[in-house]
Amino acid sequence: MRIPLIAGNWKMNKTVDESIALVTGIVKPLEDIKGVEILICPPFTSLHTLADLLKNSSIKLGAQNMHYEDKGAFTGEVSPLMIKDLCQYVIIGHSERRQYFNDDEYANKKIKAAINFGIVPILCIGEKLEENMSGKTIEVLERQLEQAFNDIHNIGDIVIAYEPIWAIGSGKTATGEQANNTIGVIRQKISSLYENKTASNVRILYGGSVTADNITEFVQQPEIDGALVGGASLKPEIFRHIASQTSRIASQSRNGC
Ligand code: PGA
Repeated sequence: MRIPLIAGNWKMNKTVDESIALVTGIVKPLEDIKGVEILICPPFTSLHTLADLLKNSSIKLGAQNMHYEDKGAFTGEVSPLMIKDLCQYVIIGHSERRQYFNDDEYANKKIKAAINFGIVPILCIGEKLEENMSGKTIEVLERQLEQAFNDIHNIGDIVIAYEPIWAIGSGKTATGEQANNTIGVIRQKISSLYENKTASNVRILYGGSVTADNITEFVQQPEIDGALVGGASLKPEIFRHIASQTSRIASQSRNGC
């Protein structure tokens, strides 16, 4: 049974003080939600403070990116060595990083580095609108998976987030059924690259304009193991609702309803 994951990607939002205020207001209600793993990915500047704040909490912490080297002359970068004691997770290959920072090329090295340092990578993959319209979605996703996993023999407990680029921050989403079908194909690809067991254990999230109003449509699908939530993760009440709806659906499916 895969435990659902609800991950909040704050992107480039919140100062340290604002991060403390947001997390302090929400930590207790989030901890009360059972059967779902909850993860917050703030900016680098807030990681240390939030790691302290969440020290005895079930809420996990993740970084939004990292470099693949552990140290060196890479001005402005942050290494896995620097975040490994603060974070359990790291987002790799988010479409905004693929678009602006060449992460198509670096995702593979970053995943290797994360695994090496015991940080769980959340690999983001997704197609552009024109790729979707021209029927290239599966081809694009398979290529992204092959590139990201090149020469990696054991992906361990990696998480994948399927985020159609046209759905990110746009208010448009795939339907639950479309996302479920695409995620099913992603799982098949994992099973062709690794073993069936790896494919059936890997958690695959949906991301792109997830809100409290549409989360149920996604997490009730059998292939979808949670969500990577951007904008809505900055609104504590909505993020809590997304996590609690996920918990409700997961407990229904555990009880066979
Ligand atoms: P969004 O972002 O929920 O604001 O669409 C999702 C993401 O970029 O991970």
